[in-house]
Amino acid sequence: MKSYLVQPGSGIENMQLSETEKPTLQPGKILLKMLAWSLNYRDLLVAGGQYGLGLPSPLTPISDGVGEIIESNTELGGFKIGQRVALSFFPDWQDESITAQKTKKSLGGTSQGLLAEFITCLPSEIVSVPQFLSNEEAATLPCAALTAWNALFETTTNSPEKKVLTIGSGGVSIFALQFAKSAGYKTVAVSRSLQHLNQLKELGLDEGIESSSNPKWGDTIRKSSFGEVDHAIELGGANTLPQSIKATRVGGEISLIGVLAGNEAEFNPLPIIMKSIKLQGIFVGSIAMFNRMNSSIEQNKIKPVIDKVFKFENAHSAFAYMAKGNHFGKICISI
Ligand SMILES: NC(=O)c1ccc[n+]([C@@H]2O[C@H](COP(=O)([O-])OP(=O)(O)OC[C@H]3O[C@@H](n4cnc5c(N)ncnc54)[C@H](OP(=O)(O)O)[C@@H]3O)[C@@H](O)[C@H]2O)c1
Repeated sequence: MKSYLVQPGSGIENMQLSETEKPTLQPGKILLKMLAWSLNYRDLLVAGGQYGLGLPSPLTPISDGVGEIIESNTELGGFKIGQRVALSFFPDWQDESITAQKTKKSLGGTSQGLLAEFITCLPSEIVSVPQFLSNEEAATLPCAALTAWNALFETTTNSPEKKVLTIGSGGVSIFALQFAKSAGYKTVAVSRSLQHLNQLKELGLDEGIESSSNPKWGDTIRKSSFGEVDHAIELGGANTLPQSIKATRVGGEISLIGVLAGNEAEFNPLPIIMKSIKLQGIFVGSIAMFNRMNSSIEQNKIKPVIDKVFKFENAHSAFAYMAKGNHFGKICISI
């Protein structure tokens, strides 16, 4: 079968499309024929050697994918042959709170990823995907969507009304906007692009702030009629956090998710203390959260936003397109 292999640290441009053995079906496992994949910023970090040390090498990249169950060497539980399923980013995090043990194994990171024609896994590592979604749409859910869902509804103070801040217009932020709107929350987004802000407004965004010409956007939000937010979905990292803190109300919360604008900066923690802000790291989510999110996607008929789909043979172009950072929504690969 064909599969992609990369040496973590060597960069995605050195990823190779290789002919490898089709996996044999061990007892207890199922065989999936992969149908579609989606990219995350993390896939670039892994290939670039910025995602921790000691990753398998060579590594099949990508955590997010959807496949069809074509063979089984075990009880299938609630699943059946021919069913379309997604794999969980953390195969061992079934339910309840995060622990080091549950998150030790992550697809396309500490263990082999999915960018191959066939994959074997345990039935406990998969979830069924909403039927109304295409293969590519369903492939966007495991990492970006689940992270946004976890931040907004699982590891948080749930409230019937909220004002939510998102940063940029990539995978996580667009899912966060769509989920927030489905819950009836008010939303404000900052983006470096006016065109992206207009596209976000078509998805229901209430307020948009252009950030390139307004680096102090946190103050702008605070002083605007929209006002301070209850919950900031922080995707920029160390360089945007001070602005997110300014935009967040006293007693509000910030979900720390991403490092798009860098992970090193001088940082004054005093405003967090004086505003009693709850800072919460978010790391994707569990399989139970994934199933709850899928029920909500089904119920609210939420369609993932896809920027562009590339063919399996052109996976390099998909990564190069992501590295440019001008996309709106998810970048997918299809068989
Ligand atoms: N903690 C977790 O579990 C978890 C899970 C998923 C992702 N993440 C992290 O969350 C972040 C977002 O991931 P993603 O997959 O949504 O990424 P993505 O799809 O690549 O998002 C990129 C978007 O972010 C904005 N952006 C890019 N560079 C920026 C910069 N220097 N400053 C401010 N905004 C910038 C751009 O929007 P505009 O052009 O509109 O500005 C761009 O479209 C990444 O750091 C990723 O590693 C973390």
